[in-house]
Amino acid sequence: MKFFVDTADIKEIRELAETGLLDGVTTNPTLVAKSGRDFLEVLKEICEVVTGPVSAEVVAVEAVKMIEEGRKLMEIADNITVKLPLTYDGIKACKILSDEGAMVNVTLCFSAAQAILAAKAGAAFISPFVGRLDDVGTDGMQLISDICQIYANYPDFQTEVLVASIRHPIHVIESAKLGADVITAPPSVIKQLFNHPLTDKGLATFLDDWKKTGQKI
Ligand code: E4P
Repeated sequence: MKFFVDTADIKEIRELAETGLLDGVTTNPTLVAKSGRDFLEVLKEICEVVTGPVSAEVVAVEAVKMIEEGRKLMEIADNITVKLPLTYDGIKACKILSDEGAMVNVTLCFSAAQAILAAKAGAAFISPFVGRLDDVGTDGMQLISDICQIYANYPDFQTEVLVASIRHPIHVIESAKLGADVITAPPSVIKQLFNHPLTDKGLATFLDDWKKTGQKI
C-alpha cells in the first residue's frame, strides 16, 4: 500500500519524507491557497523532495485548456501527475493525456460509475473522496469497496485506487483491508498512525526500569 500526503506544505512534506514511508504527494487548489506559495514554485520544490508521483491539479474546465495546463505542469518534473476533475471534459482530457503517456489522477470521484469512466480513460489513479461522502451521510468506504471489486473484474484496467479525503486512521485501515492501492491523507492523520497510548505507557515503564539497572548500551 502506498502512502501519499495530502498537502502543499513543504515543511510537512520534508518531515514525512524523512521517515522513508512517503510514496507521493497530492495537492489541490485549496491546499495551494492554504500554503500561501506560488503554485509552480512549490510544486518544483516538492518534486525535489519526493521522487514518487506529485499530483498537480488543473483549474481549467474545458478539455482543451485542461490539456494545455496539464502539459505545462508536466514540464516541472518527470514525477508530476496531472490532476483532473471527474467531469465530462476532465475525462476527455484524461484520455488524451494518458494516451500521450502522462500520469493522470482523476479527482473528485463520488460514484463507482465515475470510477469506471476514469479507468476506461486510462487514468493512473482514481481519487474517491471518502470523508466528503461520510460528511453528507453516505458510506465513503462502501464506494472504495465497490470500486476495488469492479476494477478486480477487469485486469486490463490499470488505474490505481487512491483513497482521498481521509479524515482518520480508521479510513486508512479500512482502505488497507479492501486492498486499495494508495491512500492520501493530511500530515496529521499520517502522524496519528504511529501512535498508541499503550506504546507510550509501555515505553515509559521500560525506560524507568532500565534506569534502575544503572546499565548502558
Ligand atoms: C485528494 O487528492 C484531495 O486533495 C483531498 O484528499 C481532499 O480532501 P478533503 O476532503 O479533506 O479536502
